[in-house]
Amino acid sequence: MSSEAISYDTLIPNNVDLSSDRRVLKALEQWHPKYIDWWKTMGPEGFQEASVYLRTAVSVETVGWAKFDYVKMPDYRWGILLAPQEEGRKIPFGEHKGEDVWQEVPGEYRAMLRRLLVIQGDTEPASVEQQRFLGATAPSLYDLRNVFQVNVEEGRHLWAIVYLLQKYFGRDGREEAQELLRRRSGDPDVPRMLGAFNEQTPDWLSFFMFAFFTDRDGKMQLESLAQSGFDPLARTCRFMLTEEAHHMFVGESGVGRIIQRTCGAMTDAGIDDPFDIEAVRQLGVIDLPTIQKKANLHYSLSLDLFGSEVSTNAANFYNASLKGRFKETKINDDHKLIKATYPVLKMIDGKFKFVDEPALTALNMRLRDSYVDDCAKGIKRWNKIIENKNIAFTLSLPHTAFNRKIGEFSNFSVTPVGEILDTKQWQSLHTDFLPDTEDGEFIASLMKPETQAGKYANWIAPPKSGIDNREGDFEYVRLS
Ligand SMILES: [Fe+2]
Ligand SMILES: [Fe+2]
Repeated sequence: MSSEAISYDTLIPNNVDLSSDRRVLKALEQWHPKYIDWWKTMGPEGFQEASVYLRTAVSVETVGWAKFDYVKMPDYRWGILLAPQEEGRKIPFGEHKGEDVWQEVPGEYRAMLRRLLVIQGDTEPASVEQQRFLGATAPSLYDLRNVFQVNVEEGRHLWAIVYLLQKYFGRDGREEAQELLRRRSGDPDVPRMLGAFNEQTPDWLSFFMFAFFTDRDGKMQLESLAQSGFDPLARTCRFMLTEEAHHMFVGESGVGRIIQRTCGAMTDAGIDDPFDIEAVRQLGVIDLPTIQKKANLHYSLSLDLFGSEVSTNAANFYNASLKGRFKETKINDDHKLIKATYPVLKMIDGKFKFVDEPALTALNMRLRDSYVDDCAKGIKRWNKIIENKNIAFTLSLPHTAFNRKIGEFSNFSVTPVGEILDTKQWQSLHTDFLPDTEDGEFIASLMKPETQAGKYANWIAPPKSGIDNREGDFEYVRLS
């Protein structure tokens, strides 16, 4: 294990010895002001001057990799940090399994790798754009700090990908780096590349759901790229995963605190019917059925990010030893998937059936299955909170065919429990499954900022403990 020191003597904190790589350093220094322009126009609206108690990655050691301090976001030190190089690492899968990992891009895979980098890179600034108006309605300074933490780290992930593009792809890479700042979430002319990243994040429940479901897709993608035979990509993703864990914590604990508050308010008011939506909303908290609808929406949008269940692209990425499986090295098989099959859920003659497909082309389905398992664990923990309050309600993940725009089920209307509807039935029933205008307006009516340290909006419970072990009334954001 080698571990290069962080170089703070140049503009960009890094452990890739940037100062001795004049070409890349210059490209990044030219990109930096454009990035800052993007951050100031598309990043958190109205808080560019606020001092935020943020963690900054300063090393890649297991312990002590982050330091906490007040920072104005445009001054955040977005660094380029790769997990330590593993001495003698071999390619763990695909046609090149067993060969030494690559430190340079193999010519034959240049286009494929560039594509993978750009697709991943595009999601990072997209989520910052989607979340840019949330600051105005934060339920506490603690939550305000958390969304900003997520935002600056997504910014750093963009830096990490841009570094790889500029270092290994020359002029093409520099052009892609510009494009990553040019596309805009939700813009009809220059949208972000993937659907879920063009959706709005209109309120804090959506934000927490996004961080739980969509950042978790990010985790799965990063996990499979962390296996890559292209070692700089593997090391980049491994370090990004360290930060990604916090994003999912923000999502899971955020939704958990909303559930806890709703259940608490119901108990205090003597309401035991979770479906008495009017009565629950009267208490100024979000009813559980609406929380379920939001989960349905964000889960189904996130499933689409895995692409088609059966995909030759996925097979090519794997064969080329560029993108592996979740926990690749822990799987007990040939890691080449010669003659292996994998069950893919399909709709055949109006019924759901598993069909064995070549495992290579079914890699998206497999990654999605791993994702579903991971989501289910979080849902279980949310249900524990409801159970502990003795309320008769269970949150669940909808059927994977529900509300899909991509893949096997995109042409079908399917309910959360897997009933197939015709278009007319769907039209009259879909507001039972997905948030409607009225739900949105109700949630919006609760979104009033709470800016006093230690205070929380009525619809969300305080967290169990503070960030960086700070006390309850810690001022996480100093508004200017
Ligand atoms: Fe990210
Ligand atoms: Fe994230």
